[in-house]
Formats: sequence, structure tokens, C-alpha cells
Amino acid sequence: MSASTHVRSAVNANEPRKERVLLLIAATAALCGLLFGYDTGVISGALLFLKKDFGLSAFAQGVVTSAVLAGAAAGAGFSGRLADRFGRRRMVIAVAILFLVASLITGLAPDVTWLVIGRVLAGVAIGICSYAGPLYISEIAPAIRRGALVSLNQFLITVGILLSYLTDYLFANGEHWRWMFGVAAVPAIILWAGMLVLPESPRWLAQQGQHALAREVLERVRSSAEAEGELAVIATHAGGGQTRWAELLSPQYRPALVIGMGLAIFQQITGINTIIYYAPTIFQLAGFDSAAQSILATAGVGAVNVLMTIVSVRLLDRTGRRPLLLTGIAGMIVSLTALGFVFQLGSHSAAFGWLAVVSVMLYVGSFAISLGPIFWLLISEIYPLRIRGVGMGVATMTNWSFNLLVALTFLVLVDSLGPGYTFWLYALVSISSFLFSYYLVPETKGRTLEEIGEVIRHRKG
Ligand code: BGC
Repeated sequence: MSASTHVRSAVNANEPRKERVLLLIAATAALCGLLFGYDTGVISGALLFLKKDFGLSAFAQGVVTSAVLAGAAAGAGFSGRLADRFGRRRMVIAVAILFLVASLITGLAPDVTWLVIGRVLAGVAIGICSYAGPLYISEIAPAIRRGALVSLNQFLITVGILLSYLTDYLFANGEHWRWMFGVAAVPAIILWAGMLVLPESPRWLAQQGQHALAREVLERVRSSAEAEGELAVIATHAGGGQTRWAELLSPQYRPALVIGMGLAIFQQITGINTIIYYAPTIFQLAGFDSAAQSILATAGVGAVNVLMTIVSVRLLDRTGRRPLLLTGIAGMIVSLTALGFVFQLGSHSAAFGWLAVVSVMLYVGSFAISLGPIFWLLISEIYPLRIRGVGMGVATMTNWSFNLLVALTFLVLVDSLGPGYTFWLYALVSISSFLFSYYLVPETKGRTLEEIGEVIRHRKG
């Protein structure tokens, strides 16, 4: 038996109750992912009816759609220090309330101004939750199970996207767009109530000098001996007062900053959200005439996203992050190239529509085992405790800003270059993302967060 298998079987092996507590903690915080996926996906269907009810111009539709992304970038950018100052748990509780308020405002919006206000607030909540959830889980999970537990968040993002497509479909008949937005209040309430009874992150507590409390929390999810050992390591890395932004640029933290921001940019500019936000349009461009057929194919793509994320969650702690990351990005390069050919060579016909669907499914499946979960996982792992909140906030803000950029430029690119060249452009960007990951992204499997910090610091030297 290898050392890591030995450790794996040892952790909580005789304490299934602690295992269950751990899973419950991770699953509750991962509701952040569900709200993230739902609130970003819901607009595609709702827009059809909003357009009619409020008489939205093309520009106004763009504003309503991108309000969430802009809000998310701002929310993530400004809140990193708050997560370091007030704690991860309190951040998530505050954000759950914000989600609730935002879903009520959008659901009841009397006019387009309120709608945009509600969407910006939902965006701010998503932006904060998208890193605060993984951050909290990574700091409470044991090293050997961290990959799977943190990636529950990405799993629920994909479930949230799929649920939003299904809800849109369900409410479409009665044109009930208010309900499409309003139902997000339900997971927000569960997240809020759940976080109220969950403990604070033990690593954050130790950073605040509250070692006794940190031990108490660790002992709820580890054996006493493990808790003791882990706390000793955490204590040597904790302390040092308030974090400042400028510290991120200091030579010791710069490598982590580069990896986090690089992955944030590549996760978006390799084009995933052209599919998530515009799949029905793409399928119609490729040859499907019926809207129903395009929407059905889109739901199929959503399902592939969920299924392949499950595969990734199961493999991350066994094969490691790097093999999945590199294999997945290679799959994205191949499928984007194929999609480009479908548009370049194809005549507009149902057969080519299906070829596009297969390429898109291969592409989304490849993203779902790699850049999807691994970006959010790695940014929760690579920053030393002292700068973790700020570091994750900056990486997350970068991710949402590039998400916005792609959402705003995709249709313009399709208009000017044509869809074939547009997808080839994303294939080229994916090649750069492969090289970036190959040369710069470290393996973090099985290491404690403190060991990862050491590895990255040494590579700098
Ligand atoms: C990305 C989102 C994307 C989603 C698709 C997430 O990891 O950050 O931008 O929509 O994956 O599953």
C-alpha cells in the first residue's frame, strides 16, 4: 500500500459520523455554486419574455445580461480583504442574504431599472460566493479529500446551470419570467440557514490567533491526533496582522498570483461561456431550423457538463490535478478545431447541426474535467494563508472580467470573422492555455495547503 493510500484509508476511517459532518459542511457551502450556476444561466430563457414585457432594445438586453457579470467582477474584487478580516463563514452568510434580496428584487421588478439593480446585486453576491464557498471548503477539508470536496462547488455550478435551463423551459409556457428569477430565493435561504449552524474555517481562526477554537472545529471533522498535527502546521504559517493588496506583488507571493490570474483568464478566454450563454444560437447557425431542437440539444450539453464534472470530482484526488487539466485542455483544442471545420466546410443542414452538437459536447465535457473545476480548486489551494482571501478575490475578479469580455465580444467576432474562424481562434488560445498549464501549474494533490505554499515558493527560487 502506498503512503498516500495508507493516509487516505486512515483519515476518519473509524469515524463515519465525522465524515458525514464534513460532507454536510462542504455540500452546504457548495450551494454557492448552485446559486452561481442558476443565476448566470437563468437569463437566457427569461430574456425572451423580458424583451416583450419591458420593450427592451438590443442594447438594454445586453445591459440586463451583462449586469450580473459586471456585478460579479466588482463584488469579487472588493471583498477579498473582507473575507480575511471578518472570516469566511460570515462572508457567506452575508452573501446568502444578498442573494435573497436580489432574487426578490428581480422577481418583483416593476421596471427595467429595478431589474438591472436586482441583477447587479445578484452579480455582487455571485462574485463573492464564487470564491468564498471554495475558500471555506478548502480550509476545512483534509488534504487527501480536498479536490473532491472543493469541486462539489463546480458540480453544483453545472447543476445550477442545468436547473436554470429546465426552470426556464417549465415557466416558458405561461411566460412567467418573475418566477424564473424568484425561485433562486429557495437555495439562498437554505444556504443562509445552513451557514448559521456551521463552524468558522479553522485556518482563518488560527490566523486570528484563536487556536483553541480552531482545534475545536478541526476535532469535529478529524481524529484528535490528526487535528493536533494539522493545527501545529497551520500555526507555523498563521499570523502577521492585516493583509495589504500590495503584498500580492511581493516576490514571495508573485508566482501564486501569476498562476491564479493566468488560470482565471484562460478559463474564460478559451470560450466556455460562448456555449453556456449562446448554445441555441450556435446550433441554429450550424443548421438546426427549429428552436425546440436547439433548446433540447442545449439541455443535452448541460447534462454532459454535469456528468463529466462528476467524473472529474471522482478522479481529482486519485490521478491528481495536472493529468486531468492537460488531458481536458487537449480535448478542448481538438473539439474547438472540429467545431471550426463544421462551420467552415458545412452547408447549413441538420446533419451539420448534429456534428456541431457532438463537437460542442466533446468540448464542454473536456472543460468539465479540467479548467472548470480545477481553476476554482487551485485558487483555493495555491495562496498562502496570509493572502488567501485577497489572492482569491483578485483571481475571481479577473475571471469574471474576462467572462464579461467574452460575453460581449463573441457575437461581434462571429459577425466579423464568421463562426469557423471564431472557434479556431478559441482553439489557438486553448493551445496557449495548455502550454501555460504544462509549464507553470503545480501538482497539489495530497499536499496540505501549507506544503503547497512551500512548493510554489521554492519553484520561484
Ligand atoms: C466557470 C463559468 C462557467 C461554468 C460552466 C465555471 O467554472 O467559471 O464561467 O459558466 O464553469 O460549467
